[in-house]
Amino acid sequence: MPKVPLIIDTDTAQDDCIAILAGLLDPSAELRAITMVAGNVGFEQQVANAHLTLNVAGRLGSVPIHRGCTQPILRHWESAEDVHGDGSGGLSMASDALSESDEHAVNALLRLTAEAPGELSIVAIGPLTNLATAVILDRSFAQRVKTLVIMGGSNNARGNITASAEFNFYVDPEAAQIVLQAGFEDLRIVPWAPLTLLDATFPRADYDRLGALGTPLAGFYHRMCAATIDYDESVGIDGSTHPDSLSVAVLLHPELVTEQSGYRVDVETSSELTRGMSVMAWEKFEQPTNAQVIEAVDGAAFYDYLRGILATETVPNLPVAGLSD
Ligand code: BDR
Ligand code: CA
Repeated sequence: MPKVPLIIDTDTAQDDCIAILAGLLDPSAELRAITMVAGNVGFEQQVANAHLTLNVAGRLGSVPIHRGCTQPILRHWESAEDVHGDGSGGLSMASDALSESDEHAVNALLRLTAEAPGELSIVAIGPLTNLATAVILDRSFAQRVKTLVIMGGSNNARGNITASAEFNFYVDPEAAQIVLQAGFEDLRIVPWAPLTLLDATFPRADYDRLGALGTPLAGFYHRMCAATIDYDESVGIDGSTHPDSLSVAVLLHPELVTEQSGYRVDVETSSELTRGMSVMAWEKFEQPTNAQVIEAVDGAAFYDYLRGILATETVPNLPVAGLSD
């Protein structure tokens, strides 16, 4: 079976790490690069988490990690540390022998897509600063990407960082608007609400079951998602949220999607009250569509999919302090 070559653009904490595991371990995936963007937690912690994820999968050094934009285009960076804690999950490993690419993430996105035009897909699970910068540097970038899956926004539904905005679009709304208008031919959006809350949130009993699978990856999952499930439960969300890993899953297994529709999606950039809000115009408004918005997935099949990833036996390259606690 031909593999799906992809890049994951990420602000690595919590579910971003699980998304990378899916990109590494799903037999149908060929993960070509990890590109880092400012988002969830401090940039150095995000980079450490990316290494940690590769390490727990036994794949340290097998996929290049490219550092990208450390600030949104116009705004001050705002983290989600209230949601994810410091982002480490209480885990650490020796960092003296770790290697990263010298190439900036944006240059890597441009180069890799130029080397294989029309072949590479991108799953963007953080703020869209790197992708927007690539669009600005080279207007033909969008045409070279096979499929772009974006985790961001809500489908005319509630936000998570403000009442109206989802985190990834809120942090860099200008970047999100640039990317959405750039002419990506196959652009799919995994929104926060209602999709993630309905079909990609695992109640604590399921989260604990995944954490008890007995593999290093299961222990890693349970630790990395611990702060977030505590936070989510404190704000009335019933479980551990997985929009980023769902984004990789729907690229690799589109059969998980049970409902999607074409929308015209725009992001608010001028209002303070609704900064980063995604307005998704459906067919009634007769606007040219720029994205397929995923509206429902088979949640049970997605849970089984992640269970399969986390049940994979791996041997970490380096010891991870805190993993067996
Ligand atoms: C998004 O924000 C981050 O906290 C998650 O990783 C996800 O990409 C959800 O709003
Ligand atoms: Ca993310």
